[in-house]
Amino acid sequence: MNTLNASIIAIGGYVPETVLSNTDLEKMVDTSDEWITSRTGIKERRILDNPALATSDMASFAVKDLLENYAIDPLDIDCVILATSTPDRILTPAASLVCEKAGLKNAWGFDLNSACSGFLYALSVGASFIESGRYKNVIVIGADKMSSIVNYEDRNSCILFGDGAGAVLLQPNTEGRGIQQNIFRTDGTGAEYLTVRAGGSLLSTSEETIHNKQHFVQQEGRTVFKQAVKNMSGTSKELMEKASLTPEMIDWVIPHQANLRIIQAVSEDIGIGLDRFKINIQKYGNTTAATIPLCLWDFKNDFKKGDNIIVTAFGAGFSWGSMYIKW
Ligand SMILES: CC(C)(COP(=O)(O)OP(=O)(O)OC[C@H]1O[C@@H](n2cnc3c(N)ncnc32)[C@H](O)[C@@H]1OP(=O)(O)O)[C@@H](O)C(=O)NCCC(=O)NCCS
Repeated sequence: MNTLNASIIAIGGYVPETVLSNTDLEKMVDTSDEWITSRTGIKERRILDNPALATSDMASFAVKDLLENYAIDPLDIDCVILATSTPDRILTPAASLVCEKAGLKNAWGFDLNSACSGFLYALSVGASFIESGRYKNVIVIGADKMSSIVNYEDRNSCILFGDGAGAVLLQPNTEGRGIQQNIFRTDGTGAEYLTVRAGGSLLSTSEETIHNKQHFVQQEGRTVFKQAVKNMSGTSKELMEKASLTPEMIDWVIPHQANLRIIQAVSEDIGIGLDRFKINIQKYGNTTAATIPLCLWDFKNDFKKGDNIIVTAFGAGFSWGSMYIKW
């Protein structure tokens, strides 16, 4: 019997219409388009400003986009894994809402939270379901409404993040194409450098936590920057060695979009030119779990059968890793 691989056979995406540009941010905090562009590469980001909509809505729009464009019957979907750090509510899996909103009547689903590495981890979990033969149609989503946890008075963080969602459909492949290998790591000693301190089981929301703005993302940018470069490069090089791939053999790298300078440093470190990196950070900023599927969505027409693709991410936790996909 041939080996079963999990292959990405369809991609969907959604970004809200409302654009928050660097010029808009200049009116909100002490910053400038020049500073943001030169330090991060970001020009604008999308914001879900309709108060009636949340992460599950963006995720279900991305799923509907996928189903419609590839003429896939929603009733064929077995399972949904939603990577997010911003579920609609703490106690309601947003994946249940996605199954309902996108009409996936035969699917079950669950949320997976690993911040900016969430989509990559979810892809690996989804691939395991396919490789085991247990399921034939697994949807993996990365979606985050970062505007719901960003402090728009903090210039250190509010310039970075945006809202969005991307989704892929995994199906079995017996020709050796699809997800091949990954190397994933976590290090909880990094927890304090990038976090939302209140609203979880350690520190419930109270008047005091709200007054102290502890329900918003807080980070120490420089430490996160250095760790992101070191670790995305580290696991990408380790993975290439494990898979007997040289930099010349890699067609595309899809990096988590946190900062253009992080991406440039990774490119230099792993010896793969920036022309082979997929980059859309200028349009969307850092959409956390959504950056990688939104990159797949934006550039889907560039990927050719048999391409060697490295996907790499880094995020809160710290959590990070790299995956090798044969398209
Ligand atoms: C946040 C980040 C863009 C800051 O860039 P940086 O080059 O490291 O800048 P620093 O933090 O060293 O700050 C340099 C100066 O710019 C100022 N600054 C910070 N944000 C600013 C802004 N939006 N506009 C203008 N000045 C700003 C700082 O206050 C500091 O001023 P000082 O020298 O007077 O103290 C960068 O560290 C980064 O991207 N880190 C990774 C963050 C990330 O990706 N998080 C999510 C990971 S998944």
